[in-house]
Amino acid sequence: MEADIDALEERVATPKTVLMCRPEHFTVSYKINPWMEPTNPTDTSVALRQWQTLYDTYQRLGFHVELIDPIAGLPDMVYAANGGFVLDGIAYGARFHYAERGPEGPAYSNWFAERGLRVVEPVSVNEGEGDFLKVGDTIFAGTGFRSDAASHAELARIYDREIVTLRLVNPSFYHLDTAFAVLDDAGGPASVAYLPRAFDDASRAILEHRFPDAVLATDQDAAILGLNSFSDGRNVVIAGKAETFARDLELRGYVPHGVDLSELLLGGGGVKCCTLELRW
Ligand code: ARG
Repeated sequence: MEADIDALEERVATPKTVLMCRPEHFTVSYKINPWMEPTNPTDTSVALRQWQTLYDTYQRLGFHVELIDPIAGLPDMVYAANGGFVLDGIAYGARFHYAERGPEGPAYSNWFAERGLRVVEPVSVNEGEGDFLKVGDTIFAGTGFRSDAASHAELARIYDREIVTLRLVNPSFYHLDTAFAVLDDAGGPASVAYLPRAFDDASRAILEHRFPDAVLATDQDAAILGLNSFSDGRNVVIAGKAETFARDLELRGYVPHGVDLSELLLGGGGVKCCTLELRW
């Protein structure tokens, strides 16, 4: 690997514009993924403090961070990635699989509309950027647990992009962004990372073919949602405990920035879940 480092061109950062939601009402009061355990206590003040470190990290990296007001009774609203998918100034609204999160869809769509984005009302169930990730001119779209495959067809109609469906098979990695990370959204060498066992055989074959030099996550890093990270093409914000992932990123010329979001992991989310990219 050492020789590869020298051969690598400098990775270039393109500061991002993102939407986040303060976890003012965060708790775990229902269970819609294997990480959530309503009988275990949560501490909203810890969640707020940890979330603030993510916000501050983005500021330090020169990102533009927009905020949506949290709504009481919607404890998962902190996971902004699920609020929709925004590309070319068009917001494809979210339609949640579980009723508990249902009202978040319109809340996020209203925010998009107020900011002048064209909002496309969703027909199919879809959980936004949690399941839709763009690499180059391709949108990789997850299904299996949350977003319906029919939403991928909607995506294809809205955006003039290639859509590649990936099927998730492991309930702990229920959104695409828990099993697949975009490191450089322009594409190119080592532009993504993923957890092979989170996908069915056909999807894994697609990933191997398209990304022969991808970073593969270890079980240990996956077990803390280490892949749930957000990158500007050079700086990759990741779970602080994802040590192997951090080292693998460095070997490929990226600069990892660890943050501790352990409290938000109790809801089954990490860095990326708290981040919705705004491409407007
Ligand atoms: N508790 C939330 C849910 O199960 C967590 C969402 C995590 N978001 C994500 N983009 N992976 O819906």
